[in-house]
Amino acid sequence: MNEGVIALIGAGNGGLALLKVLLDIPGVIIKYVCDINPNAAGVLFAKQHNIKFITSYGTILSDGEVNLIFEATGNPDVFKDLSVKKSPEISLIGAEGSRIIYNLLDAYNEINLNLNEYKNNLEQKIIERTEELERTNVELEKEMLEYEKLSHKLQEMNEEKTKYLLYATHQLKAPFAAIQSYVDIMLEGYAGQLSHQTRDIVLKIRERCKMLTNVIKEMLELAKLKSRDAEDMIIERLDITDILAASIQKCKVIAQAKDIKINFKPPLESFYIRGNAKQIDILFTVLIENAINYSADGTEIDVIINKTGASQVSIAVKDHGIGIPEKNIGLIFNEFFRSNNAVEFHNNGTGLGLSIAKEIAEIHHTNIHAESIVGKGSTFSVIFRLA
Ligand SMILES: Nc1ncnc2c1ncn2[C@@H]1O[C@H](COP(=O)(O)OP(=O)(O)OP(=O)(O)O)[C@@H](O)[C@H]1O
Ligand SMILES: [Mg+2]
Repeated sequence: MNEGVIALIGAGNGGLALLKVLLDIPGVIIKYVCDINPNAAGVLFAKQHNIKFITSYGTILSDGEVNLIFEATGNPDVFKDLSVKKSPEISLIGAEGSRIIYNLLDAYNEINLNLNEYKNNLEQKIIERTEELERTNVELEKEMLEYEKLSHKLQEMNEEKTKYLLYATHQLKAPFAAIQSYVDIMLEGYAGQLSHQTRDIVLKIRERCKMLTNVIKEMLELAKLKSRDAEDMIIERLDITDILAASIQKCKVIAQAKDIKINFKPPLESFYIRGNAKQIDILFTVLIENAINYSADGTEIDVIINKTGASQVSIAVKDHGIGIPEKNIGLIFNEFFRSNNAVEFHNNGTGLGLSIAKEIAEIHHTNIHAESIVGKGSTFSVIFRLA
């Protein structure tokens, strides 16, 4: 026997309402709608839904499949008659019961409807959010592309600038060399005897010339490093102590002029690294010269070479000089940057030494670390991988 086969007796407005909610329940079969009026609202609705319409309930009572009858005529006699005639297997629900069930089902349907609406809203919101995210994504991708283009352009401009700098500085080199040799000729008296006053002026010209030649030399060095000139890229196995000792030796002239002592104890073992000897010499010279230039006369500088870990060697140059203001530590490697205390203390500087040293460190896949306390001194260190 089929569970949930229903017959509805009485298809007026009450019957129609019940029919509508019953139809919404999955698994329920409404087999008959019975009414004496073929034009009752429930009858017309039943016909639209292919439910069998009958005018007398005899058929229902003799159909063994039906197991539930809703009596919605509101006529107590019909209910009584049905109660007597129906078989015990059939459940009978009268007008009152039907109303309660209708209300329950109606409430259930409303909840379902609300739930569906909520679900649809949620789905709609998810769709909208997804679309929004996709749009943002597309915009971000566009911006990334724009950024990459810009960065590429900047790089090109930078390379152009470096090339121009190289060219312009190179053009300056010859005239300055000429001025310097003329000045030397004058000072040596080949252009006639100079008065004291003229000699003083010519000496100043020579001093300025020397400074400018130095600037030009540094600018050319930096530009050459930046263009990764093939000659500078020759990498060999080097004993780092040898290079360091030679750099210190070179700097001793300016150190002695200031009565500054450079302490350096060569290590007992040799440390080999892979690098460009000329460049590493320049790097050490920049650090040691700075230590001398920014220290008071009669002080000491320590150059320390140390094995760090199993495969690295560190070189530190430590002075007891003027130090670097904390806010400037991040700027000292920028081209032409000089901090105010340095300008006051030592007038002859370009602000290119550390830019050159940094470039060299980068070529050697390392970097320079600076630590300093104003008035106490600075330590610059660089670590190389052992070969
Ligand atoms: N040992 C140091 N002690 C104090 N300040 C330092 C030291 N080394 C570098 N600086 C600071 O960093 C700045 C940049 O140094 P860098 O060597 O690049 O240029 P510079 O010494 O001014 O000029 P030059 O290019 O002629 O060497 C210096 O002007 C100074 O302010
Ligand atoms: Mg310097």
